[in-house]
Amino acid sequence: MTDPERELARLLAERFQDAGDLDTGFANEGHVRMAAHASMRDWADRPLPEGMLRTLAAIALSSPTKSDMQSRDIVVVTDPQRKAGLAALTAPDAWIAAAPALLVFCGNHRRQRQISEWRGVPFANDHLDWFFNAAVDASIVLGSFIVAAEAAGLGCCPISQIRNRAEAVSTFLGLPERVFPVAGLAVGWPGAEAPVSPRLPLKLTVHADRYRDDGETETRAAVEGYDRWRDARQPYRRQRRARDLGVAAFYGWSEDKARQYSVPERADFGAYVRARGFKLD
Ligand SMILES: Cc1cc2nc3c(=O)[nH]c(=O)nc-3n(C[C@H](O)[C@H](O)[C@H](O)COP(=O)(O)O)c2cc1C
Repeated sequence: MTDPERELARLLAERFQDAGDLDTGFANEGHVRMAAHASMRDWADRPLPEGMLRTLAAIALSSPTKSDMQSRDIVVVTDPQRKAGLAALTAPDAWIAAAPALLVFCGNHRRQRQISEWRGVPFANDHLDWFFNAAVDASIVLGSFIVAAEAAGLGCCPISQIRNRAEAVSTFLGLPERVFPVAGLAVGWPGAEAPVSPRLPLKLTVHADRYRDDGETETRAAVEGYDRWRDARQPYRRQRRARDLGVAAFYGWSEDKARQYSVPERADFGAYVRARGFKLD
């Protein structure tokens, strides 16, 4: 086994409890880096080289795009005052305010509508699909940016909390109609080692030839098996909403996710998206 093959096998075994049969015989350093991904929320006191983010953005924007429509933009915020303003609108987390750069990945359906008008051709697709296309395009670029940035040694953490106050963030960034934030991204040189976060077993999330559902009993057993396997590696340090929901004797991933979504989160996002000019039916 070459070093990358061995390292990839080790990383995937940390990530997935059923990684034992994975073939890593084709692995190179790029695969190893991707498998070692870990979101970073701790920054070294080291400036980002001038121009680096713009080049990483260009690499990320080289990714595929629906119908070649290129329905996504990136707002790169590095000016300290602008960054502080954006962080304040996003969430109180200190790691967001401390990040050397905050990027906002936006879906953009504005250009498509402008082009239709300029060409004098009716736009006959004012329905959910174009909101979805722009959101997917922006998400692909977000993922590609993370891969490119981590390949350069940077650390990143996506931020859905940028949508907590989507209207205020849009005004702050000057987003026009039909341009909306999909996610933020904190970027900087890593200030610490971040652990590889375990994922659901591949038997639940990778399907051969057709979707396989083993039934609720088996799925539940697999999720609860993952809860235990994950707990043995990275137990949760605190229980969410313990005052309302009680202290669980065993607190695993599924308990955490159930509790996380027991309270409404961004329930006004649909109204925001409609107000930005999208029809969602
Ligand atoms: C679209 C998206 C939005 C996210 N938003 C946040 C966020 O607002 N705050 C945060 O701390 N982490 C956020 N994350 C990071 C996830 O919590 C993280 O990816 C997940 O816990 C798995 O950990 P890992 O990335 O280290 O493997 C987000 C991730 C994605 C893909």
